[in-house]
Amino acid sequence: MFMNIQTIMVVGAGQMGSGIAQVAAQAGFRVILHDIRQEFVDRGRQTIEKNLARSVEKGKMSAEDKEAVLARLTLSVDLTDGRDADFVVEAVTENMGVKAEIFRQLDEICPAHTVLASNTSSLPITEIAAVTKRPEKVIGMHFMNPVPVMKLVEIIRGLQTADEVYQLTEDLAKQMGKVPVSVNDFPGFVSNRVLMPMINEAIYCVYEGVAEPEAIDEVMKLGMNHPMGPLTLADFIGLDTCLYIMEVLYEGFGDSKYRPCPLLRKYVKAGWLGRKSGRGFYVYN
Ligand code: CAA
Repeated sequence: MFMNIQTIMVVGAGQMGSGIAQVAAQAGFRVILHDIRQEFVDRGRQTIEKNLARSVEKGKMSAEDKEAVLARLTLSVDLTDGRDADFVVEAVTENMGVKAEIFRQLDEICPAHTVLASNTSSLPITEIAAVTKRPEKVIGMHFMNPVPVMKLVEIIRGLQTADEVYQLTEDLAKQMGKVPVSVNDFPGFVSNRVLMPMINEAIYCVYEGVAEPEAIDEVMKLGMNHPMGPLTLADFIGLDTCLYIMEVLYEGFGDSKYRPCPLLRKYVKAGWLGRKSGRGFYVYN
């Protein structure tokens, strides 16, 4: 049904988008990294360059391979560059309005064969697909942060996603060195349905004075062998993203067990968004 994928466009050059562009370029694809402003794509490229330079320093990659990866990467501030893409991964902010508008435009711009994937961490793929005239070619491809390190990609079928599109996306994830796991389209999928209530519960422990943040993180790190405690992880993900995902779960299931902790709301309102804003449960310099 499909041609070989040669060119992948990544829409959104933030933490997730730049990571996805990096693993795609490392896998040998031509990559167009897009964002709305030149400084955003420049920053995305710098992150990729820094990660690759670290791999060269560690002897995990040759300097020639690094240059070859970077040569496969082009930057774009014009969404119509999507006309050259065989596969698009959207990784913009978690906002249905923003995503819907991008998918509507991509549907007009991209060739008929192009698959449109979303890296959304919790929004319904079926709803995103519905704004396009190709819902059978819309799919969820949820990478984990940090993308170059984490093996998992959740692949989410919308109601109308074609089996061939699922297969193609699964193969693509494998070519990027990832392990794809198939998940159906429910709020939060599996990863955030399980992870976020744990993080939210850790925040309730702070809120109710059960223990200090450091103590809570220590319990989960040393007691459950988690690489990061839940509050460190929340700061790493971004507290605004954590709150947004809890809202999606709460609204999607209508069940009080997903009620976002009031302390999480308060921190987000204060602009304490975690590592990226310099302050969350911990202070960063
Ligand atoms: N980008 C690229 N590489 C990175 C990186 C980054 N941001 N951060 C760490 N690395 C690399 C390091 O270079 C190092 O590589 P080598 O093995 O080649 O030396 C390796 O990862 C390990 O790093 P460190 O030794 O510095 O630190 P660590 O052992 O503590 O690992 C970690 C760091 C991988 C982030 C680890 O702490 C971890 O696994 N944390 C949990 C991450 C997690 O749960 N992610 C999921 C978040 S939820 C999500 O993404 C979904 C959502 O929808 C919200």
